Amino acid sequence: MKKQHYSELGLVNTKAMFAQAMQERFAVPAYNFNNMEQLQAIVIGCARSASPVIIQVSGSARSYIGTSFLPHMAAAAVELASESGAAVPIALHLDHGSSFELARDCIDSGFSSVMIDASHHSFGDNVALTKQVVEYAHGHGVTVEAELGVLAGIEDEVSAETSSYTRPQEVERFLHETGVDSLAISIGTSHGAFKFKLQPGQEPPPLRFDILEAIESLVPGFPIVLHGASSVTREHVEMINQYGGRMDNTAGIPEEQLRRAAASAVCKVNIDSDGRLAMTAVIRKIFAEKPGEFDPRKYLGPARDELIAMVMHKNSTVLGSAGRVK
Ligand code: G3H
Ligand code: 13P
Ligand code: ZN
Repeated sequence: MKKQHYSELGLVNTKAMFAQAMQERFAVPAYNFNNMEQLQAIVIGCARSASPVIIQVSGSARSYIGTSFLPHMAAAAVELASESGAAVPIALHLDHGSSFELARDCIDSGFSSVMIDASHHSFGDNVALTKQVVEYAHGHGVTVEAELGVLAGIEDEVSAETSSYTRPQEVERFLHETGVDSLAISIGTSHGAFKFKLQPGQEPPPLRFDILEAIESLVPGFPIVLHGASSVTREHVEMINQYGGRMDNTAGIPEEQLRRAAASAVCKVNIDSDGRLAMTAVIRKIFAEKPGEFDPRKYLGPARDELIAMVMHKNSTVLGSAGRVK
């Protein structure tokens, strides 16, 4: 693994992005990726919509891509952005970092931002691990996200069967003791494509905006992060089911709720599942309609186009991040 600082790759940390998002009341998109087509789509979609962007990988996505390959992809993403519309600021972020060693490796290899997710530990252990990462990260100009409260669903290798909402009364002490730059909270979102099973005509339960507001009033101006924020787009789920897939009765976070969150202290919104669904839907359609097709460019190319459209839609109509880079 080559040691390099993120500035050598043309990346930025999240500080200025979040300051702007807080002041102008929008949320910076944080899209997960695992491969070249996903990364290209995210960067092209954000450059075309003049949106700052956080490109993020989980520990397992980093291993899948390859630890040496990944920084080159990030550097290429910076070049691609300026070729595709606007030289939008790009942060490379570790999503759900599970240990100090992983966070340190990422920082040493060119990440500009890391999450240390110790939310499933006791408050004291969460503070201790987060603090250790903050000390190392800040020494390298890298920003740190931590989490208080646990989301339902799978958090990388950590499985949380039930969520526990963030307790607002713990937030101020946590921020003070750790020096972290942003905080992921649990207010009713969850990871994955199967967030809610609804009866016909039923709506997903609303997010706990009362908790978000309580946190905002206790730590005004502090950047909050929302994980598990995919909407599980009906159009893509239906397309998957129409072309041989099977995703029964599933729903995500309604766009209206995300709009409201993005206009609050929420400065970063994490989206992974919706991107996976968009690509899978198109690939399934092509395989069903053209069973003889075997050139990856012929199905990954259209899948990439679908993801570009999804990114532009979210940036402009959900997160409000479009047009923020002048
Ligand atoms: O929150 C986790 C992300 O959605 C990615 O997880 O890359 O380990 O599947 P994964
Ligand atoms: P979704 O599964 O809702 O896309 O959430 C992704 C996420 O929180 C990544 O950290
Ligand atoms: Zn997450």
